[in-house]
Amino acid sequence: MGKNIQLWLYVMELITMVAFIFLLIADGRRLTETPIVQLDIQTEQYAMLLQATMSNGIANVTLSIPDGLITSISYCGINNLLATQNVEKDRGYWDVFWNHTTSRRARKKFLENSFEIIMDNENQAEISFKSTWNTSQSDELPLNSDIRFVMLRDTPGFYTYAIFERLEGWPLVDIENLRVVFKLQHDMFHYMAISDERQRIMPMPVDRETGKVLDYKEAVLLTNPTNTDLTGEVDDKYFYANDNKDDRVHGWVGADPPVGFWMIIPSDEFRTGGPYKQDLTTHVGPTVLSVFVSRHYAGDDLVIKFQQGEPWKKVIGPVFLYLNSNASAMDDPTVLWDDAKKRMNQEVASWPYDFPVSEDYIKSNQRGTVTGQLFVNDSTTTLVPASNSYIGLAPPGDVGSWQRENKGYQFWTKADACGNFAIENVIPGTYNLYATVPGTIGDYIYTSDVEVTPGCTIEIGSLVYNPPRNGATLWEIGVPDRTAAEFFIPTPPTQFNAHVYQNNSESIFRQYGLWEQYSVLYPENDLVYNVGTSNYSKDWFFAHVTRNIGNKTYEATTWKIIFNLECVVDSAANYTLQLALAAAQGAKLQVRFNDEKVVDPHFTTGKIGGDNAIARHGIHGLYWLHNIIVCGNLLLNGTNTIFLTQAIATNPFQGVMYDYIRFEGPHQ
Ligand SMILES: *[C@@H]1O[C@H](CO)[C@@H](O)[C@H](O)[C@H]1NC(C)=O
Ligand SMILES: *[C@@H]1O[C@H](CO)[C@@H](O)[C@H](O)[C@H]1NC(C)=O
Ligand SMILES: *[C@@H]1O[C@H](CO)[C@@H](O)[C@H](O)[C@H]1NC(C)=O
Ligand SMILES: *[C@@H]1O[C@H](CO)[C@@H](O)[C@H](O)[C@H]1NC(C)=O
Ligand SMILES: *[C@@H]1O[C@H](CO)[C@@H](O)[C@H](O)[C@H]1NC(C)=O
Repeated sequence: MGKNIQLWLYVMELITMVAFIFLLIADGRRLTETPIVQLDIQTEQYAMLLQATMSNGIANVTLSIPDGLITSISYCGINNLLATQNVEKDRGYWDVFWNHTTSRRARKKFLENSFEIIMDNENQAEISFKSTWNTSQSDELPLNSDIRFVMLRDTPGFYTYAIFERLEGWPLVDIENLRVVFKLQHDMFHYMAISDERQRIMPMPVDRETGKVLDYKEAVLLTNPTNTDLTGEVDDKYFYANDNKDDRVHGWVGADPPVGFWMIIPSDEFRTGGPYKQDLTTHVGPTVLSVFVSRHYAGDDLVIKFQQGEPWKKVIGPVFLYLNSNASAMDDPTVLWDDAKKRMNQEVASWPYDFPVSEDYIKSNQRGTVTGQLFVNDSTTTLVPASNSYIGLAPPGDVGSWQRENKGYQFWTKADACGNFAIENVIPGTYNLYATVPGTIGDYIYTSDVEVTPGCTIEIGSLVYNPPRNGATLWEIGVPDRTAAEFFIPTPPTQFNAHVYQNNSESIFRQYGLWEQYSVLYPENDLVYNVGTSNYSKDWFFAHVTRNIGNKTYEATTWKIIFNLECVVDSAANYTLQLALAAAQGAKLQVRFNDEKVVDPHFTTGKIGGDNAIARHGIHGLYWLHNIIVCGNLLLNGTNTIFLTQAIATNPFQGVMYDYIRFEGPHQ
């Protein structure tokens, strides 16, 4: 009897529990009753796969099979946000510029040859488009690619990432450019935003056709633009470049209905060249890019050069294509920019993502952390925290090598005001720890390799950077910050209307033709800087360029720095000129002390630079630091002159930008 009651109670309990679980599930369903993710594969008559559409009730994204081209994005009642004016192959794609040798350069879109459904459930669709190289394809790019697209439930937009791989024994190849590109409807998107300050109504593609091409094909004077307010402005995609560290979101806003199309780049780990590398973002088209590899603002050093047989594997992305809409944006497009920034912060906070299915994408629990605190010892007195410095892990190399590094992953963070840093989410591997400190010359490197293992936290503790210094500062020009932004930047030539932004700091130098103003300001005699009375914000032109003497002829220019030395006590004493350059383009900078005519300069950089930052309004390219030892016998009691000659002068874009110059007293 007792046993029966016990059994009965047990059954009752079981029934209650089951009912309770059902209720929970039903409740859960109600709470998450948003549309599910759906993957629809469309075929044609002969059962050939044609295209795949991923949808989540918010947006539909259609891709061609097996190519992996994005042909359509529908959102907010708009059938296709992508440029239906263009053929399907020219709307959304990954592409690459590459060559076997320096003589042959090929550009190709990734047109893949196999399609695979990686995941297809109510919360996530992930699809893959692959191509695999084999030795019989000697004319093809020796690289395997697996390009992925992911759509998540409740997520306005989609993700894309790619896994690239080379195997041992494959031929050599150079990869010059690697990007993902979206081209939007011409008539819909007119407002572009790449930062709080740089947002504007853009010209139309047709305006470039009716305009006048200037000194290079990318720069066009708008002579007859659709929007007459823009008449006399120059359009150039290089105006809209940004440093990696400043480019987490950029995109366009369309007016009717108000929609935003945004590229969100949640991490820099897969880009090349570190935090100061600049690249293109958006431009007239309307085009949206995420550039992962390029020579822009850097030159040949940033081309990935694979040796014969060199294996490689890298995951690039995911990046997020975010779509938003808000009726208030009809009058004020910044509403959608502000919302895109919020979303960007959310994406950054959820990096590394947990959803990519590829095992090559390293998840959060497989990554490590490196923490520490960096100080600067630039005098004999006290250590100063390396406030706000950029500190990063990059593949092992020399001091400053990260700015030319282009094959591995890099992980950077900004130290706090006390120099504390935590580099999180580092993929396991062997790295060097590097830093660059605003206000301090040179580059820091930690002496030992850093071995990051899954889940590790490496506390490196206190580090001290002893920047290059041989003696006390006698004088200095500029501030050491890897840019020429603090120097004199002219207004553009009067025949061009500068675009006026509301808040103007960066757009001062993102203007066409600034280099030409040197010849206007200094038609015959070159720049002379008097230490003590000159002011670098007014008297030091931001770029040391050639002089245009008419008829497409240019001449070398020699700048003078005049300074006073009270007394050179010891003619054998060594003084130091710390010469930091922020950019160089096909230049040869020669330095002479107190003798302009001496045939062999006391110092020369040799021919350097291919960053093209002068023509491309960059304010900086790659950083160069020269520690020039000056023997006391070259110096005079009283007035001294340093002659800086930029000796190569065959075109208007050759030259250097200085970052900072310091003259130091005798070695201590
Ligand atoms: C639309 O923008 C307005 C103004 O910024 C904001 O108050 C509102 O919350 C936004 N609506 C949505 C749905 O995001
Ligand atoms: C310009 O800058 C000022 C001061 O920082 C700020 O109050 C204002 O909102 C900015 N305007 C725009 C359009 O960003
Ligand atoms: C140098 O010139 C700038 C710009 O005119 C001015 O703001 C600054 O105060 C000047 N510095 C000195 C030391 O005179
Ligand atoms: C400009 O250069 C061309 C070709 O070198 C030459 O024929 C012409 O005389 C030059 N004109 C002037 C004004 O120097
Ligand atoms: C500079 O002046 C000091 C002190 O008068 C003297 O010893 C030295 O020889 C002078 N040097 C030169 C290069 O004239």
